Amino acid sequence: MSLPDVDSPAAWRVSEIENDRGWVFRLDDAERSRLSAAAKALYDPDRPLFDYRRDEADLGPAVETLAAAMKEAHFGRGIALVKGLPRDGMGEKEFELLNWLIGLHFGVARPQGIKSQYISEVRAAGHTYRAANGRGYNSNAGLDFHTDGCDLVTLACYNKAKAGGQSMISSSVTAWQRLKAERPDLAEIALQDFHFSRNQEQAPDEAPYYPQPLYDVADGRLFGKWNRNRVRTAQDIEGVPPLTADQRECTDLLDEILRRPDVMFTMWLEPGDLQIMNNHVMLHSRTQFEDHEEQDKKRILYRLWLAPPDSVLLPESWGDYFRSIGPGTVRGGIRGHHHDAACRAFELRQAADLGMPPPA
Ligand SMILES: [Fe+2]
Repeated sequence: MSLPDVDSPAAWRVSEIENDRGWVFRLDDAERSRLSAAAKALYDPDRPLFDYRRDEADLGPAVETLAAAMKEAHFGRGIALVKGLPRDGMGEKEFELLNWLIGLHFGVARPQGIKSQYISEVRAAGHTYRAANGRGYNSNAGLDFHTDGCDLVTLACYNKAKAGGQSMISSSVTAWQRLKAERPDLAEIALQDFHFSRNQEQAPDEAPYYPQPLYDVADGRLFGKWNRNRVRTAQDIEGVPPLTADQRECTDLLDEILRRPDVMFTMWLEPGDLQIMNNHVMLHSRTQFEDHEEQDKKRILYRLWLAPPDSVLLPESWGDYFRSIGPGTVRGGIRGHHHDAACRAFELRQAADLGMPPPA
């Protein structure tokens, strides 16, 4: 493949993101109180999240603001921040439900791990990030730059850490442009397959690892994918070819580019902030954090992985992981070990509610 020359609104430099805050959205008091009322009215501790229907919750005027933010993340700069979700006076579980209801509005939630959970509590739960089955979102470790396994990811902050836990975002499109300009030979390597471990979260019909290039193109759009930790753990799996010297040099340069001051944008997520990212054009990371002593103050964020109805065609090489590359399909996620009839029924119904084809 020749080296693709792509431009995109997601190919920003840090100064552009800092000077033009068009990617930051603010909910006003009226929007916030409607969201709070909707979640509180529907909250029932005995009701499973799968049971809630998209048309049950009237999210009020906030829907327009949220829709604009989703669009910015999906088709614009790749990142959006919505400030002012109701947080004060909301219990953790009510806040979780609010995020679930927002998710129902904008896509089909995807499973996120070994437990086949459709919303994740991002909190320190004693996991070792570097282990063969490590999961960064349940550790307090600083993370490598990576993409999550879905089209759109939303992360809503309920509590921030006592110290650390800063969010870092770099554009994979900007990184591609630098890589291509500086080392076209290594850019060529990035278009070839790497092997990523599923870190023991594979479903029964999935292999423990999968091949995917770091960059590919579909319909003239560039797609990026990277996760050093998963490529590293794959090296211990039988059948995975050892990384070549060229591949190591390529990924070392990529990681160096991603942390350059004009490429890496840093931000703090405050309670009530909702961060939305398009994984195909953004890479993210966070710094190590120190938690509060008190249980009710510990850092917690709620993470959703969404397949939105207006998604675009993915590259062929994305098919192994996403299981479908068709535009507007239910795709991506980690099915994990408990993807059962209830999961399939939820996906089927939610796809229908959004006018999307039934999941494959
Ligand atoms: Fe992530």
